[in-house]
Amino acid sequence: MSTSSLRNDHNLIEKVLSSMKATVSLLKDGKVVPESILLQTIDFTKNFVDVCHHGKEEETLFPALAQTGMPTKMGPIARMLLEHQITKEIASKIEESSKIYITNGNSEELIHNIEQYIQHVTDHLYKENNRLFMMADSRLESYSDQIDKSLTETEKNKLNELGKTREYYENIVEQLSKDQN
Ligand SMILES: [Fe+2]
Ligand SMILES: [Fe+2]
Repeated sequence: MSTSSLRNDHNLIEKVLSSMKATVSLLKDGKVVPESILLQTIDFTKNFVDVCHHGKEEETLFPALAQTGMPTKMGPIARMLLEHQITKEIASKIEESSKIYITNGNSEELIHNIEQYIQHVTDHLYKENNRLFMMADSRLESYSDQIDKSLTETEKNKLNELGKTREYYENIVEQLSKDQN
């Protein structure tokens, strides 16, 4: 399938969303959330999600769909691009409110922003998994090997830019999933 690599990314993102839910519960119970958890979550959202995963969709999948005649200024691609921008904005808000929490323990903004992120990204992943990726898998069926290669290439370039590896982010996800128990 053309979207296998992107669906694998979604699985990692979903694990981080579930760790973020656990963070919100701790904060709501007035428990202390270690700075390391917040920093790993921020690294994952700002870099793996915004740079690497969105880069793969925006620079490889969406242009391939555009070549099949799918419009880019309206419809699902335009909608997904807008949602990527919103994802990025909420991630910056999480970073800002984490600093406040780390400095003075005030968690109100941080709880609000993490909850907003979980809701927005859950909806976004649902739309991609069940609509856009279904369309992509059928429209791009005959080029799936080529698309898969391009996605791997874009991923490599993006992670190089970040000076990180996929294993590094997989470890972060594993760490965050463990910490939540
Ligand atoms: Fe997306
Ligand atoms: Fe996605």
